[in-house]
Amino acid sequence: MTTGLALRSVTKRFGGFAALEEVDFVAHGGEVHALLGENGAGKSTLMNVACGIYAPDEGRVEIDGKAVSIAGARDAAARGIGMVHQHFKLVPAFSVLDNILLFNPGRPAAEVGAEAQRLAARIGFDLPLEARAGTLPVAEQQRLEILKVLIGGARIVILDEPTAVLSPEEGTALMGLIRGLADEGAAVILVTHKLHEALHHSDRITVLRQGRTIAETTPEGMNPAELTTLIVGEQIVEEPELSSHVGERVIWLNGVELAGDAGRRGLTGLDFQVRAGEIYGVAGVAGNGQSELAEVLMGLARPTGGTVWMDGENITEAGPAGRRRAGLACIPVDRYRHGLAGRLSVADNYAVNGVLAGRYGGWMWLNRAKARARAREAVEEFDVQGVRGMGQRAALLSGGNAQKLVIAREFEGETRVVLAHSPSRGLDVRAGAAVHARLRAARDAGAAVILISDDLDEILLLSDRIGVLSDGRMAAEFTAPADRAEIGRAMVSHGDD
Ligand SMILES: Nc1ncnc2c1ncn2[C@@H]1O[C@H](COP(=O)(O)OP(=O)(O)OP(=O)(O)O)[C@@H](O)[C@H]1O
Ligand SMILES: [Mg+2]
Repeated sequence: MTTGLALRSVTKRFGGFAALEEVDFVAHGGEVHALLGENGAGKSTLMNVACGIYAPDEGRVEIDGKAVSIAGARDAAARGIGMVHQHFKLVPAFSVLDNILLFNPGRPAAEVGAEAQRLAARIGFDLPLEARAGTLPVAEQQRLEILKVLIGGARIVILDEPTAVLSPEEGTALMGLIRGLADEGAAVILVTHKLHEALHHSDRITVLRQGRTIAETTPEGMNPAELTTLIVGEQIVEEPELSSHVGERVIWLNGVELAGDAGRRGLTGLDFQVRAGEIYGVAGVAGNGQSELAEVLMGLARPTGGTVWMDGENITEAGPAGRRRAGLACIPVDRYRHGLAGRLSVADNYAVNGVLAGRYGGWMWLNRAKARARAREAVEEFDVQGVRGMGQRAALLSGGNAQKLVIAREFEGETRVVLAHSPSRGLDVRAGAAVHARLRAARDAGAAVILISDDLDEILLLSDRIGVLSDGRMAAEFTAPADRAEIGRAMVSHGDD
């Protein structure tokens, strides 16, 4: 086996904080190597060192056994290292081809276009070169990111949580694709929080904890519980726990319609209600109207028919701010687009809701000290790690810790309705379990909770009732404890059979 990439005793500090301390990591050509660890463990930082975005303070990077000093992402690409980042770096307004060219400058467009088509066909998908990147479904944007890197000739392919934004089906397809790359000789590094990806789709596993390598092992004979213990240092067991008291109807969708278009599935005759003290799980295969339903609930998309009621008031026409004031909290699926402003400080990101709700006085007399103090408490309470001051830019948080910040903010104040869209995506097992506990606590305090998730395990674990979204309609409804197989069947039925 050839050595692809080796990181030897790498230390990386940000100010006085060591994000990595003497980390060793080796990925061979021909293997899929899973890199695991808690939120903030240093996974992205280590991979950013590997691809030249950060220079290590100590230690070295080797390619095929030779020490190299990588001058930046371009230089890394020239050396055969390609990284698909945790947060996409596509230019949404550019076409697919222009995005590829941006990454592969100096080559004729026609040649690059033809190579892109060939490569895409070989790894089993097609890409509309003329389409605007921003209009592609997220799974295609992901493939475009991978293609960009492969066209550059990458033999060391780093994927930072590539399936966090994908549905289970799309994730499985991606696992097939990366196995193919490894079979062709690439060293593929898969950063993930999904245990089954490491256990079933990798050849080797490295676990980081608090900036140190704590294990290098193979998946053979290992079970999820053992792997969890390696990652977070303890067993995490979650058990279903149904609501003990269901109250009055809080939110009610009555015949809601949303016209579909090219990039958007329509919603048809959606009728469901959620009561105080219950978690209503919306199950379904991704792409069956989940995002559209979330947008309708958040007030980002106006229904083309029907009515949305909250606490007896017609809120169909209310926008996001009005709904917040009425007590709607949202954990959006795309925490970066709808959740955080990376350039703003942790405190300001935390405070926006409170400011809008008037909790810190009006804009003119904003009580900054109070807002900061609340932010500090919340960071503590929700275990947002890596905050070295409330004035620190939110962009410097690790992916999962940024998510925890959004979640902390949404749980502040009086909530009548909590909308949570795939809330544990991108979180480590412990943080995921903590968010689940929060949702249950909100329910037990009398909120109506709507959980949209394409992870059926998550739905079954949390929901008191379950609606199955299929083809933009509610195909079936179940009361927990519900039969998994029956729900599965409803997920794939299309109302006509
Ligand atoms: N540019 C930076 N400046 C300051 N601190 C940083 C910077 N980049 C990362 N960090 C800190 O380094 C630590 C490791 O972050 P990193 O992004 O590597 O974690 P991760 O393992 O990828 O976590 P996640 O699973 O949440 O994505 C965190 O505490 C993070 O806040
Ligand atoms: Mg990360």
